[in-house]
Amino acid sequence: MSELLTIAMPKGRIFEEAAELLRQADFQLPPEFDDSRKLIVDIPEENMRFILAKPMDVTTYVEYGVADLGIAGKDVMLEEEERDVYELLDLNISKCHLAVAGLPNAKKSEIAQKVATKYPNVASTYFREQGEQVEIIKLNGSIELAPLIGLADRIVDIVSTGQTLKENGLVELEHIEDITSRLIVNPVSYRLKDERIDDLVNRLAQVVQPV
Ligand code: PRP
Repeated sequence: MSELLTIAMPKGRIFEEAAELLRQADFQLPPEFDDSRKLIVDIPEENMRFILAKPMDVTTYVEYGVADLGIAGKDVMLEEEERDVYELLDLNISKCHLAVAGLPNAKKSEIAQKVATKYPNVASTYFREQGEQVEIIKLNGSIELAPLIGLADRIVDIVSTGQTLKENGLVELEHIEDITSRLIVNPVSYRLKDERIDDLVNRLAQVVQPV
């Protein structure tokens, strides 16, 4: 019998596309996989265990080795750059981009502007590279609120359809980086379970849309 593979799946917007990709790669995931509120889902037929984590936490589970593999957005990888995990495959799903946004025609003050974001590391690096001094304010969600109520001048956030910006009267000011989801692995798991992991990577690589 092959070794158990534990995979950290991000709950939320990536989940559905990732599950679809696994099914296309011929992994037998039961229908209740998608609707369950369970946080640990065992698939004995595949000798696989899925743990359902917050997207920002996937790299943590993989780094500590409680998950062998994980699916994480490139945004999370950039924010959590120091994590000891390897990126194995660009799954080319959940495409979006990181951007700077704000109110249209907002005046640029001379003093350091405030930037609200879920991605403080990405934002600091970006503005440092631009030679702009800003104050970063970390939020955990609904980032678009910040400029609307005067907490920040601008935001750094994910833009997918652009609907959230539009409905809140905000505009994209700068494009930072394109984002897709990646398959990541714990380095020790990769050494110990290389055959199983290579099989999964090969099967996924065959169904991934070309990047
Ligand atoms: C993300 C992101 C934006 C929105 C962008 O938030 O932070 O708010 O989606 O998507 P759109 O361009 O298609 O409108 P998410 O829904 O993940 O929730 P959050 O605000 O709690 O982070």
